[in-house]
Amino acid sequence: MKKLDCNFERRRKEFVSQLPEYSIAIIPNKLISIRSNDVEYKYRPDSDFYYLTGFDEPNSICVLVKEKREFTYLLFVEGKEQEKEIWVGEKAGIQGAKSIYKADSAYLITQFDDVLKKIISGMEHIYFPLGKNKELDLKITSLLSESRANVRSGIKTPRAIFDPRDLIHKMRLIKDSYEIDCMKKAADISKNAHVLAMSYAKNGMFEYELEAIIEYKFRKEGAIGPAYPSIVGSGKNCTILHYIKNNKKIQKNDLLLIDAGSEYDYYASDLTRTFPVNKKFNSIQKDIYQIVLEAQTKAIEQIKPGKRFIDSHNKAVGVLVEGLKELRLLKGSIGEIIKKGKYKKFFMHRTGHWLGLDVHDAGPYIDNNGNSIKLVPGMVMTVEPGIYISENLEDVPEKFKGIGIRIEDDVLVTNGGNKVLTYGTPKTIDEIEAFS
Ligand code: GLY
Ligand code: MN
Ligand code: MN
Repeated sequence: MKKLDCNFERRRKEFVSQLPEYSIAIIPNKLISIRSNDVEYKYRPDSDFYYLTGFDEPNSICVLVKEKREFTYLLFVEGKEQEKEIWVGEKAGIQGAKSIYKADSAYLITQFDDVLKKIISGMEHIYFPLGKNKELDLKITSLLSESRANVRSGIKTPRAIFDPRDLIHKMRLIKDSYEIDCMKKAADISKNAHVLAMSYAKNGMFEYELEAIIEYKFRKEGAIGPAYPSIVGSGKNCTILHYIKNNKKIQKNDLLLIDAGSEYDYYASDLTRTFPVNKKFNSIQKDIYQIVLEAQTKAIEQIKPGKRFIDSHNKAVGVLVEGLKELRLLKGSIGEIIKKGKYKKFFMHRTGHWLGLDVHDAGPYIDNNGNSIKLVPGMVMTVEPGIYISENLEDVPEKFKGIGIRIEDDVLVTNGGNKVLTYGTPKTIDEIEAFS
């Protein structure tokens, strides 16, 4: 069982410190999902639950009870039944929940209803994420109605259910040093996997062979696995944003777009490189690649404290539009192309997103005034501009059709500016062409 650092305790304290007196927060872990018949998907805990507990067994709920300033941490877990452990391996159980995971009190998950019923009266606020687990939603709303029936006997009772996610997600937006270490490790593993795939890629292979090489490297280096389904697209498949079939034979003049990131200790990386399978760009591929690369480089320069999240996107769009105009793929003034969104037929997604426990991580993009959020040290985001020229586009010269290029790195905001966590993955035309 893994050794826990002290950050989970600090996070619980910080979260609870923002709750009013007499609050109870109920944070459930994720349910098991069925893959087919009686076979389950490999379990992956809920990110908010994990963020506050470090506990990754299914069938568990975290309850934080705040009276005045002090709070109590309760963990509901599965028991250590020998019968079950024979099938699924060792569990923490009630003892482990207390000794390893630092719960003040721990109970069997089957005791949840009874214990909660007792705690809930006397509380004034419930924090619970409605909509994640229907059965639990019903349970909590019924408990609330039941406890309201006690109001006449003078007992305090919660009036409403508040969403804890706003508070937790704001915290998750700023990574602590432990999280940054995990994310750096995830990024390094992804870099090594991309480099390995680049070294294997050749004419005649199937896309899924490269997928297998990448995911082998993820596991070999200690990652849990991919943080999202790996995208390995060749030729015109590069123009499909989330292409995951990965079942085509790679042809010798193809570009390959690989978007694959490892998950390490539940932290994601998200890395994309596009390169010619023969490591030699033709002149059209080179022109498009250079535009995307410049957009990405300039967008990364926008990432520093004080800048806003949207600044890197705006910069990337400006560079892409200028480049597409030079190639005569877009016509008209830059202002009009941007205002009317005419570039979106070639670049239809945002330049980045938050990254953390989830690949599209939690955290607000807009501040209380409705503006794009200001960057502060500890935030991690992706920068991933692209140009996708679908074969179905009209008014596009044939020579451009079927080209898709995306370049994506993971960027940490630091005091002095930023740090590219995925730095070192071959990216410039020279680096790719020199790669063997
Ligand atoms: N790999 C998903 C994304 O880049 O957002
Ligand atoms: Mn991404
Ligand atoms: Mn990606």
